[in-house]
Amino acid sequence: MRQILVTSALPYANGNIHLGHLLEHIQTDIWVRAMKAQGHQVTYVCADDAHGTSIMLKAQEKGITPQQLISEVKSSHQADFAKFLISYDNYHTTHSEENKEFSELIYRRLSAEGHISTKDVEQLFDPEKSLFLADRFVKGECPECSAKDQYGDNCEVCGTTYNATELINPYSTLSGATPVLKTSKHYFFNLPEFEDFLKQWTKDKDRLQSSVSNKLQEWFESGLASWDISRDGPYFGFKIPDTPEGEPDKYFYVWLDAPIGYMASFKNLCKQRQGSTDPLKPELNFDDYWLEQNQHKTELYHFIGKDIVYFHALFWPAMLAGAEYRTPTSVFAHGFLMVNGEKMSKSRGTFIQAETFAKHLHPEYLRYYFATKLSDKVEDMNLDFADFMQKVNSDMVGKVVNIASRSAGFIAKKYDGMLSETCAEPELVNDIVRTGEEIATAYENREFSRAMRLIMQCADKANEYIDSKKPWSMAKEEGKEQEVQQVCTVAINIFRQLMVYLAPVLPELTDNAKAFLNLDNLSFASRHDLLLGHQINKFKPLMQRIEQSQIDAMIEDSKQDLETTPTSSVATVTNDIKSSSNNTHDTAANDYIEFDDFAKVEMTVALVLNCKYVEGADKLLQFTLDIGKVQPINVFSGIRKFYQPDQLVNKKVICVTNLAPRKMKFGISEGMILSSGDPKTSLVVVTVPDDCKVGDKLA
Ligand code: 2FM
Ligand code: ZN
Repeated sequence: MRQILVTSALPYANGNIHLGHLLEHIQTDIWVRAMKAQGHQVTYVCADDAHGTSIMLKAQEKGITPQQLISEVKSSHQADFAKFLISYDNYHTTHSEENKEFSELIYRRLSAEGHISTKDVEQLFDPEKSLFLADRFVKGECPECSAKDQYGDNCEVCGTTYNATELINPYSTLSGATPVLKTSKHYFFNLPEFEDFLKQWTKDKDRLQSSVSNKLQEWFESGLASWDISRDGPYFGFKIPDTPEGEPDKYFYVWLDAPIGYMASFKNLCKQRQGSTDPLKPELNFDDYWLEQNQHKTELYHFIGKDIVYFHALFWPAMLAGAEYRTPTSVFAHGFLMVNGEKMSKSRGTFIQAETFAKHLHPEYLRYYFATKLSDKVEDMNLDFADFMQKVNSDMVGKVVNIASRSAGFIAKKYDGMLSETCAEPELVNDIVRTGEEIATAYENREFSRAMRLIMQCADKANEYIDSKKPWSMAKEEGKEQEVQQVCTVAINIFRQLMVYLAPVLPELTDNAKAFLNLDNLSFASRHDLLLGHQINKFKPLMQRIEQSQIDAMIEDSKQDLETTPTSSVATVTNDIKSSSNNTHDTAANDYIEFDDFAKVEMTVALVLNCKYVEGADKLLQFTLDIGKVQPINVFSGIRKFYQPDQLVNKKVICVTNLAPRKMKFGISEGMILSSGDPKTSLVVVTVPDDCKVGDKLA
C-alpha cells in the first residue's frame, strides 16, 4: 500500500471561492478519490492562505480584526468546497500555531546554514498609511510610454516592465498620497546557492511536466536571484525570529509561510488522529511524510496553477532541502480556466462563484465536465456552457443513468427487484471489467478526459446491447420473461461497473446508486463481483437534465454578485504578488465603467490624409489625420503587421481625439485609431461610410 500526501494550493483568505479554484480542487479531489479506490493510503490536506497586506487592509476596511476576517472566510471556503464534495482530510489555516513553529524552524535552519542574508532595499512608502507599498498598491505614469494609471510592475499599454520607483507621478492606490522613497533592511533567501541542487532535482522526468521543466530551464538560463522573504510592519503574518534587538519588527512574506502551511495542516491532522482506531482515519506519523530520510517511504504531491510554479518548483524545494526536509515527489501544474472562451468576467456574469453555481446547478455537473476536459498537460481549460450542457445531458443522463433507468423498471415490476441467477453476456461484462485497468491507469496519470472517454465507450456498449435486445418488446412476448430478466441483469451489472469507474468524479451520484444497487461498497476491486440472484432497490432518478434556464439564471445571478461584492481598491486588489495575478486567484477586476467615463471619450470621424512606415519601429504606422480642425493630427498606430500604408489612405476611420498626447520615441501621438480583433494575430481598422462627415463625433 502506497502512502501518499496530496495538497491543493491554499486559497487566499480574502475572497470567495470561484470556478477557478474549483478547477484545481476538483482535479485534486478526483485524483485522491481514484487513488484511495485503488487501496492506497491517501491523505489530502489544504488550508486557507491567511497572511499578507491585502488581508490586513480588508479587515481594516471592514472594521474587524484580521483574525475575525480569516475565520469568517475560512468557514465560507469550507462550506463552498463541501458543496463540491471536495474530501480534504484536513482544512487548516496558515495563521496557526503549527505553521508558526515550522516557519520559524525552517527559517532558523536556513539561517544557521548561511542561506539567509540581509540587504537594504529602497521602496515606495505611503506616508499617510505609514506603509511600504507593494507594486499592486502603487500607480503612476509609465516611464516608457507615459500611459497613465499603470501599476508599479508593468505597463498594460506598452508592456514594459519596470520598478515601481521608476513610475512618473506615482500615487498610492490606498490613500492617493504621493509615495516617498524609504530604505529598510530586508531578509533574503539565497536561492542561487541551491542552483546545482535544483538543476538536479528538476531533471527527474516524473517530477515535473515537460512544459514546466522547459520553463525552469529558461529561469536557470536567466539566472536565479535571491528571494526577498521579509516585509516591514504593519503586516499580518509571523514575526521573523532572532532579529537584532532595537530594530523594527520584520515579518515573513506571505509566500514564505504559505507552502509551509501544507506541512502545518498535515501536522495538525496528525494531532487530530493521534490514538485513532478508525481504519478510515488512521494515525499518521509526521516524520514518515516529511523527514528527508523517509522520502522513499511516502509520496508527496502538490496540485497547483501554472502561475505559481516558481514558488513550488524552485523556492519550496530549495527551502525544504536547505532545512533538511523531504522535497515533493511531483508538482502537478494545471492551466487557467476560461469561461465561454474568455477570461472570467464579472460584467458578463462569467466570474462565477462556487456558491452561485451550486445555487442553480448540481455541483456534480461541474465535476463531470471538468473531468471530461482535464489531462496531465498544463493547458488552459474552456468552460463552454453550451458544451457543458450537452455533455452532461447526453453522457450522464442520456447514456449512463439511462442504462439503469431503462432496466430497473422491469426488474422491479416483474421480478420483485431480483436479478437473474446467471449472466447471459459474460463476454460483454468481462470486456467492461477489463477496461477498468485502462481507466485506473488514466486516473492515476491524471488523464481524466481519457478515463471519461473509456467510461462512455463502455456505456455505449451497454446501450447498444439493450437496444439490440429490446427488453421492452420482449416483455410483451410470451415465454420471454427469463430473457428480459437476463438482459436487464446484464445492464444493471454494467451500470454497477460504470458506477465504480465514475465514483471518483461523482461521489454523490454513485452513493445514491449504491443504495439502489443494494451494495455496501463500490471499491475498484468490487467491479469483478457480479450481481446475480441479488436483490436491488427501487430506482430513483439519479441525475436530472440541465435546462438552459438554469444556466441563464446562474449567469444573471453572477452579474448580481458584482453588485454585492465590494469593489473598492482594497477589495479588488487582492494580493501583492506579481506572478499570481491570474483568473484562478481572485484578481478579476470589475470591468464595468461608469457612463460618465464612457461619455468622456471623444470619438471623431477622421480622414486618412497620409500613412507611412516608421523607420526603426516594426509595429507602427504613422498617420496624418484630418479631424475637421484647422491642423491635421499625427497618430502612431501599432498595426503595421496588418496593413500596407496605402491601403488606408483616403479612408474614413474613427479616432479617439481627446486622449492626452503621448510622447513616443518617434514623435508625439495625438490620438488613437479604433480597430477590432486581436493585436497579436489580426486587427481590422474600423472604417466608416463615406457619408460620415469628417470631424463629426460618434454619438
Ligand atoms: O496563489 C495563491 O492563491 C496562493 N494563495 C497559493 C498558495 S499555495 C501554497 F504555497 F501555499
Ligand atoms: Zn507604457
